[in-house]
Parts: sequence; C-alpha cells; structure tokens
Amino acid sequence: MKALVLAGGAGSRLRPITHTSAKQLVPVANKPVLFYGLEAIRDAGIREVGIVVGDTEAEIRGAVGDGSAFGLDVTYLRQDAPRGLAHAVLIAREYLGGDDFVMYLGDNFIVGGIDGLVDRFRADRPQAQIMLTHVSDPRAFGVAELDGAGRVVALEEKPEFPKSDLALVGVYLFSAAVHEAVAELKPSARGELEITDAIQWLIDHGHRVESTVITGYWKDTGNVTDMLEVNRLVLEGVEPHVEGEVDGASELIGRVVVEAGARVAGSRVVGPVIVGAGSVVRDSYVGPFTSIDRDCAVLDSEIEYSIVLRGASIDGVGRIECSLIGREAEVTPAPRVPKAHRLVLGDHSKVQISK
Ligand code: DAU
Repeated sequence: MKALVLAGGAGSRLRPITHTSAKQLVPVANKPVLFYGLEAIRDAGIREVGIVVGDTEAEIRGAVGDGSAFGLDVTYLRQDAPRGLAHAVLIAREYLGGDDFVMYLGDNFIVGGIDGLVDRFRADRPQAQIMLTHVSDPRAFGVAELDGAGRVVALEEKPEFPKSDLALVGVYLFSAAVHEAVAELKPSARGELEITDAIQWLIDHGHRVESTVITGYWKDTGNVTDMLEVNRLVLEGVEPHVEGEVDGASELIGRVVVEAGARVAGSRVVGPVIVGAGSVVRDSYVGPFTSIDRDCAVLDSEIEYSIVLRGASIDGVGRIECSLIGREAEVTPAPRVPKAHRLVLGDHSKVQISK
C-alpha cells in the first residue's frame, strides 16, 4: 500500500500567512501540520509516499526532503495548478500503479492516527473507504447522505443545501478501481475534478464503498480558528521539559517546554506553552495554549492562546489573544501622541483592535 499526500493548493483561508508559505507547513506546537500526517502514515506501516505539490514545491521539499527523517520514501508529484483532489489522483496514476493507497489531505489533522482505518481496509478490501464526522456547517465540506442501513448513497461537494451534517474527513482509502472513476470525471461547477464525484461514480457503478462515522478529533486546519484549536489540543499532550535558560525571577506553571537556546527572564509562563529554540521571553506573561516558534522575541507583553511563527517579535503591547502572528512580523506600541494605530499590513491581513 502507498500513500498520496496532497500538499499543493492555494490556502486562501489562511491568508496572509499562505501568501509566503505553504499552508501545510504552518506549525502546530512548533511542528508543521503536514509532519503529523506523515508520521501517522508511517505509523500505519506505509513507507512509499507520493506528495502532490504545486507552487510551494520548493518549500515542501525543503521541509520534508527525501522523507528518510520520517522513515519514509518520498516521491514528489508536481501538479500544474490546484485542479481538484481527483486531479491529484489523476496525475499520480503512474506512481500509484495498481496499488491500494491512502489519500491524505496535507492540511488535515487526525488525533490517534490512521492505523485502525488502514487495518480495517486491508482486512475488508472495499473499493473505497471514507471517514465521516458530524459538523455544524456542512456547507464547507464534502457531504455524505446515508441510507437507513448506514450505506453511503450520495456525496456532494460543498452543497448549498446539505442533505446531512456528515462531512467527509480528509483521509480516504482506495483500491486501483478509483483510477477508472477519475478518468471518467468532468470538472465540477467550480472547475475542479472532485474526489466526491469519483466516489459517487464508484457507488453508481456497483463498487463497494464503506464509511465510518468518527466521533474523535478531526480538524481541517484551513482557517485560523481551527489552527488555534489544533494547537491547543496538541499542546495539552506535551511533556514539560526545560533545556533553555529560565532565570530566578521567572515562574513556569504546568506543561511548559523551553527548548535549547531559548531564554525566559522575569516572566510568568502558564502552560501548556512551548517556547522554541533561540526565542526570548522577557518581562512578559505567556498564557495557556501558546506556541512560540524559533527565534522569536516576546518582551514586556502578554500573550495567550496564540501561535507565533519563526522570527516574530512582540514588544511592549499589552495583551494579545487568539492570534496567529506570521514569520518575522513585528508588533510594537505606537507613540503616545497622536493616539492612533499605525499599521503596515500584508495583503489579506486581519486585525481586530480593541477600543
Ligand atoms: O478537509 C476535508 C475536506 O477537504 C472534505 O470535506 C472535502 O470534501 C474536500 O474537498 C476537501 O475540501 P477543502 O476545501 O478543505 O480542500 P482544499 O482545497 O483545502 O484542499 C485540501 C488539501 O489538498 C490541501 O492540503 C491542498 C491540497 N490540494 C487541493 C487541491 C484542490 C492539492 O494538493 N491539489 C488540489 O488540486
């Protein structure tokens, strides 16, 4: 069995962060979200992984390399434009050959890995196996309709009027039968080759499609709210350890990680929190569910329930919450007079100012 990991696409909902970097590489507890998926694939006993890449190919290659650091053998498959999830399968046809494969969306996060799913597929051998979960707004997802016996009868991508609240989770298992389906597809109204249409084709042509409704934790990390929530969840499980320097005037409470080369001085850090290598936290409060990446500075400030990316600095600005701060971003106070906000914001930035 192989894996096909989708790490192309545009990432418009995570702008401006994704103007300059791949959304699959935005870190959760200081580790790119894509890495959790690659580890789950490895833990399920799969070694050969094809990663579908687009414009951010260089960045993904730089982070994942040949996969050996994960115990994987990675092949990159270039997609000329994000033409849909089924288009990714189409361009991977030769790489996948006649093998079964797990298709994993590189921005999805699944707690507890995929071992159980893969084992079930291997034992049961349907043509396709999908995972579903109840969501509050199904319009943002692929949606499945089940019959009285719990069998999938219809699938629809991002429907305006959803027939159920069961969304497709971004991990799918396929036999080689899916290639026949994909070859028959025409672009949808939004111009993409939809994987939901390919699965519908399998159902309509009498192939066996199994589904499981999961109640565990799953997130599509495509937006900031979900990203912060996944960050919270991962941080809850970190083992506290301090390899960097913490001075006597500081207090660390709960699950706090201070990585090698990080410095905490005159500050109160209430975990779960991770302070990345080379970062400085001085005269500040860092509250629960905050990930501070490498080489950041948090000075004379308060921050909680946030993700701070590499090289960002926050200096003298009171309290920040529920924020995603991009690489090398600078947050500083404005001069006292005139009393005004001074902003240099990237395209598609979002700022909420408390008055
Ligand atoms: O997260 C689950 C949802 O994922 C499912 O419920 C939907 O049925 C499915 O279509 C998908 O919806 P999204 O709108 O979240 O898909 P997105 O465009 O974000 O793409 C998912 C991943 O696949 C992302 O890592 C980018 C990558 N991708 C996407 C497209 C369209 C590619 O590599 N190539 C592509 O052509």
